[in-house]
Parts: sequence; C-alpha cells; structure tokens
Amino acid sequence: MKQPVRVTVTGAAGQIGYALLFRIASGAMLGDDQPVILHLLDITPAMDALQGVRMELEDCAFPLLAGVVCTDDPNVGFKDTDYALLVGARPRGPGMERKDLLEANAAIFSVQGKAIDENASKNIKVLVVGNPANTNALITQRNAPSISPRNFTAMTRLDHNRAMTQIAIKTGKTVNDVTNMTIWGNHSATQYPDLFNAKVAGQTATELVDQAWLEADFIPTVQQRGAAIIKARGASSAASAANAAIGHMRSWALGTTGDDWVSMGVYSDGSYGIAEGLVYSFPCRCKDGEWEIVQGVEVNDFSRGKMLATEQELAEERDGVKHLLP
Ligand code: NAD
Ligand code: LMR
Repeated sequence: MKQPVRVTVTGAAGQIGYALLFRIASGAMLGDDQPVILHLLDITPAMDALQGVRMELEDCAFPLLAGVVCTDDPNVGFKDTDYALLVGARPRGPGMERKDLLEANAAIFSVQGKAIDENASKNIKVLVVGNPANTNALITQRNAPSISPRNFTAMTRLDHNRAMTQIAIKTGKTVNDVTNMTIWGNHSATQYPDLFNAKVAGQTATELVDQAWLEADFIPTVQQRGAAIIKARGASSAASAANAAIGHMRSWALGTTGDDWVSMGVYSDGSYGIAEGLVYSFPCRCKDGEWEIVQGVEVNDFSRGKMLATEQELAEERDGVKHLLP
C-alpha cells in the first residue's frame, strides 16, 4: 500500500461534494492502492452539515480512507495537500449564464489561491469546478505564484462526456466506440465540441452525420446541457459533475489511454494560436502525472471561428477580474 495523499475538496457540504467524496474515498479517483486523507473545506454555517458528511464517510469504513479533516479555514484546508478539487462556489439558477457568477464567486478563488500558495504541496494538482470554472482557475493560479501554472486546471470533462454520449446516440453506437473528442475553450455556452477530429468505431464522426445536425443540434445541445439540467431538475448537475471531476483527476494522475485524449482546461502556452496564459480547454494526453496539449489536431475554418469566439469570451472574463489577478 502507498503512503496516503491529502485531497482537499472545497464546498464539501454541497451537492457535488456529496456525490464526490465517497467515490474519492473508495479509490475511484486515484486508484485502489492509494490511501487518502480528505480535507473538507466549507464555510462556517455549513460546519454542522459537514460533520454529518464526516460521520457518513466514517460509517462506510473505506479501507483507503486514512483520515478526515473538516474545517472552515482555508489555511487548514490546504495544509500540505497534494490534490485539490475547488467545488465551493455559488451555482447559477435558471436564466443565468455561468459568467454571471463571476462577481459572486471570483473572490473565493483569490483567497483560496493565496492559501494554496502558502500551505499546499508545491506539486499540488488543482481542478476548479466552481463556475465560471476557467476564469476561476485563472484567478486561483495567479494568486499562487510559487506554484507552476501547469498545476491549475478547469473542468470541461463534463462537456466532453456529454459530447461523447450525444454522438454515440446519434450513430447508434455506445460511448465505448467514441474516441478523440475535444471540447475547445470555455466551460460556457461558447464552448466548441469538435466532431471533425472525433472518431466513432475508428471512423471520423463528421463522415457519419450531416453538417445541419452538427450545427443545429449537436453543438447547441452540448453547449446548453447545463442549462437544460437546471431547468429539469431545478438545481444544477451534481452526480455527473462529480463523475467528471473524478475522471479529470484520474486521467491526470494515472494517465490517458493509448492515442486517445481528454479535454482539460489548462494554461495556454500559445498552442493553436490561443492567447498565452488563458485557461482554455484543449485536447490533452496525460502520462506520469503530467498533461500535454495534443499537437497537430486539424482545425478547419469552421472550427477556427468557434475556437476564436470562445477565446474572446475568456479574454473578456479575464479583463473583468483584472483587480483579482496580481
Ligand atoms: P452547492 O450550492 O450545492 O454547494 C456549494 C458549496 O460550496 C456549499 O456547501 C457552500 O457552503 C460552499 N461554499 C461557498 N463558499 C465557499 C467558500 N468560500 N469556501 C468553501 N466552500 C464554500 O453547489 P454545487 O451544486 O455543489 O455546485 C458548486 C459549483 O460547481 C457551482 O459554482 C456550480 O455552478 C459548479 N459546477 C460546475 C460544473 C463544471 O462542469 N465545471 C458542473 C456542475 C456544477
Ligand atoms: C453544468 O455544466 O452542468 C454546470 O456548469 C452547471 C451549470 O451552471 O450549467
């Protein structure tokens, strides 16, 4: 058995937290030979609820759960931590766009970035889930200057999974047949799910569907899926978001499979002409705990236009939180 690692989950008393913690403790995220010490961070009024979550975690008697720390202090929450899932933030309601949350949520991420900088392992792997995830990841990263910007990522894996299922249904296949899906850009309504490079049973996906379906059905369905779930459930996605967070961290820590790739919001190094320093979703492969942006993916004129629109939105979001970017 390996030495335990510390995993911080913020917003641990919230709905995604409840769908996430038990799977982390069961080994689904870091493997069934990796014990974990969970650091559960939430705000002061949530501490009673958090104690309930702790009791339930204890009652599962997970063999891999080596400890639970509950706190409302970010300095304790991030102390020596190796992995952090930043979920704690307000969710949107009907009729809102995710960027409408910037004002309410951005300050959380500057505080937590500083606490990560001062307390966490310098090799920490951070995933931001709280919306708007890409720009919150940028704020966190810029407030933690002693840690590599490569260690801060944003979640577009839920969009990636949604896109895989939509093309599988359309082509009468299963997700097991779908590879090389890419979500480009922002976790927002401007994201670009790319079928030109995706494969279904080895065949290019766009050879199996027509352009009208791609433009009028597939892309808007994936872009608007979060809003559709809020409308149907009266609350934003939780179990599927937790599942995507597990998948994102697992791919990053344990690696991606063969030639396939996953979508991750990562620090742009200028690949594909995207402005350096934005947290933009790219196709990524992971190995030995490191991600790399897959190079040489075909970008046609249609794709280029969509990739630029979502880049533009991210630049605007960044400019709107300049005061939080040291
Ligand atoms: P929720 O309201 O159920 O839970 C949020 C939790 O965060 C609450 O327990 C709250 O007390 C806590 N919190 C608030 N401020 C905090 C702070 N400063 N420090 C620590 N904890 C704090 O919400 P939820 O449904 O769990 O969603 C959480 C976030 O995840 C939302 O912003 C939502 O929009 C986002 N989300 C993102 C994706 C994605 O794909 N990136 C998917 C689903 C949801
Ligand atoms: C989602 O995509 O389900 C989440 O980002 C929640 C939301 O606000 O749509």
